[in-house]
Amino acid sequence: VNVPTELLGELPTPCLLVDEAAASRNIERCAATVRNGTARLRPHFKAHKCSRLLRKQVAAGECAGVTCQTSWEALALARAGFSDILIANEIVDRSALKEVAEAARMASVTIVVDAPVQVELAAGLDLGPESSLGVLIELDVGTGRCGLPVGSPELVPLARAIARARGLVFLGLQAYEGHAVLREDRELRRVLVWQAAQQAKFERERLEMAGFECRVISGGGTGTVDLAVETGVLTEIQAGSYVLMDARYAGLGLPFETALYCVTTLVSRRAPEAGVLNAGLKELTVEHGMPQSCTLGVSVIALSDEHACVRIDRQADLSVGDNVLLIPSHIDPTINLWDTLFVWTGDSMERWRVDGRRSFAVEEAYRFASEGSS
Ligand SMILES: Cc1ncc(COP(=O)(O)O)c(C=O)c1O
Repeated sequence: VNVPTELLGELPTPCLLVDEAAASRNIERCAATVRNGTARLRPHFKAHKCSRLLRKQVAAGECAGVTCQTSWEALALARAGFSDILIANEIVDRSALKEVAEAARMASVTIVVDAPVQVELAAGLDLGPESSLGVLIELDVGTGRCGLPVGSPELVPLARAIARARGLVFLGLQAYEGHAVLREDRELRRVLVWQAAQQAKFERERLEMAGFECRVISGGGTGTVDLAVETGVLTEIQAGSYVLMDARYAGLGLPFETALYCVTTLVSRRAPEAGVLNAGLKELTVEHGMPQSCTLGVSVIALSDEHACVRIDRQADLSVGDNVLLIPSHIDPTINLWDTLFVWTGDSMERWRVDGRRSFAVEEAYRFASEGSS
């Protein structure tokens, strides 16, 4: 990222920095990947939780709508004016269901289910006279998280329960191949994506034979966009990380560039080969490995609460007070730690709010509630 050194030095470190030009190139490349296929993008908000970034994705075209993972993200998106929102997740918590209903009164909202109880709860929501909720049945195509196993005798009865429920519209299937998206071997990814797609196709045919049309088959992630398009089975792809990327995804050789950095400062070099940066586990996460340093000869070896211990090559030209840019290893949980993104537009530094964070959405909800009662 080519931020002038003096501007970088003015940032309040640690902070997150976005290279807007790189993000725009990623958005365009992803749109181009789906342009001539049968699937559209439904970009996942959970990766960056920033509605300004999501708006750029939608503006680039090829989007069927947007995806999020939680009720408060859906509410934030509905309030921000997004008109077609998939919550790619099962919702049963009472307060979450109220947020879903509120979002559904403002936008077209679809939820995901894998059991009758979720259908009953959704059917009990007060959606107002005009609104309905779209529903996808989630299949477990290998991820081992939520979803009906393929071939389940419960599939057709569940579709029937949705079709009969007040205010619910059965739209199709969610078949997210989470077990494939991060596999480094591209051929293995291709096989896993193909298997997942065949399972989804089989279930679609079973539903169609029982009289339930599947207009939507939703799945896919950053590591599988082109491979999912290739299968011709998915109608929409829920990728999210591709906009800003992270160090783990960078290892897959995808056509997307790093656009997110954590700007840190070297606060100590207690030995020629040992330094400490002012960012730790409160700013970065390690479940996908250590963040990657962009400074030659510097590597992160451990994070504690507020510190990153780094190994420094003896000859590395680095002094206390210098900035070191790190590439976060896992974008979603990292972004979730921050309120603001510093966005380098190429000629100015802007601040964009991470408005999909739960704290903001809940704050807004309380503000709305107290405005309503006063
Ligand atoms: C339901 C769902 N869809 C899509 C994705 C894809 O995200 P990514 O772009 O990070 O691969 C995820 C990631 O965890 C997910 O949980």
